[in-house]
Amino acid sequence: MPEPQWVDLGAIEEFRSAPLRQVHVGRVALAVSCVDGKLGVISGACNHVGGPLGEGTLDGDYVTCAWHYWKFHRISGVGEPGFEDDRVPSHEWREEGGRLLVNLTPASGRHKKPHAPHPLARPVVRADGPPRVLGLSTTSMDAAHPRFSGSDHLLGIAVAHARARGAEAKIIKLHELRFRECEGFYSKSARACTWPCSITQLDPSDQLERVYEALVHWADVLLLATPIRWGAASSLYHKLAERLNCVQNEITNHNRVLIRDKVAAFVIVGGQDNVQAVAGHLLGFFSELGFQFPAFPFIAHSRGWTAEDMEQNVADVHGSVELAMAARELTERALDVSERLRHRHDEPSWTLRRAGRKAGGDMLPAREPSPRPR
Ligand code: FES
Repeated sequence: MPEPQWVDLGAIEEFRSAPLRQVHVGRVALAVSCVDGKLGVISGACNHVGGPLGEGTLDGDYVTCAWHYWKFHRISGVGEPGFEDDRVPSHEWREEGGRLLVNLTPASGRHKKPHAPHPLARPVVRADGPPRVLGLSTTSMDAAHPRFSGSDHLLGIAVAHARARGAEAKIIKLHELRFRECEGFYSKSARACTWPCSITQLDPSDQLERVYEALVHWADVLLLATPIRWGAASSLYHKLAERLNCVQNEITNHNRVLIRDKVAAFVIVGGQDNVQAVAGHLLGFFSELGFQFPAFPFIAHSRGWTAEDMEQNVADVHGSVELAMAARELTERALDVSERLRHRHDEPSWTLRRAGRKAGGDMLPAREPSPRPR
């Protein structure tokens, strides 16, 4: 039987004045709650991914985790009804001379109910087969009343050319999916921004799972198409980019690079201008995810600042032999680089060192760097 370890947490009145509080004693985190003057002390570390229970909220006698909202009874530590097999440790407490004393040796243990991993959490392994090209359309429109989209038109040509070259290819149109905006789990803690995305795990009706599946597990080449809206990529693109933070954050949290040997290239169509600013953003963002790029990694079209005659712009893009050829050549360049990367991946000595804006000092599992390609 482990020895009790009583510690003094402070004046008990302070704990009676706050419904829920997170307290640290050395490495032990405690969630101290008070309902109707009655205190409860349970572990402050959630069973899910260690979120701070004492920084959450109270729902009756249940503590709701601050990160992803799992619930545990504030006195017994038992999970909410239906999840009783998930338990966090509970702790004895007593009052002595106006002080709150807590026994750090738990009165009950932690038990984690086995939860089936989300399908996206499986290892990223490229299955054998021909090259795979994902076309991602980020323009927005009413599906019931579709309109001509210059970026979609060129994306269609690029993806059709991939098929003609023997690749498997598909297009996902973001405007056909229902998905939530990023709700800032990363802003709570880097560890609260999980892979798979916390929203994907919380909300089975969120359809961005299809993009994650295609982007992380399936595609060798991403062809992303965006219009320019007020000098920036489309709003749907930015909504997607925020939800892709979980892919990049997996490197920060677990030194796990999900995007390897994948190539990204872009189609950018603007009625007026700012092509290079949009391209710069896309290149920066996708490089942070781990994508690589062909030479001349985007094609673009814009008629200039004074061109307000958008009907003519539609005709220009629709009828342009040059733009259609450029779209096919973009596919060619992306597939060529992808093929070279995939062969490099076959070399047992090849490794990807952790790097980039958020890299720490650690590297991926120690292996000798590959010789420079000749
Ligand atoms: S619900 Fe607590 S860490 Fe996720």
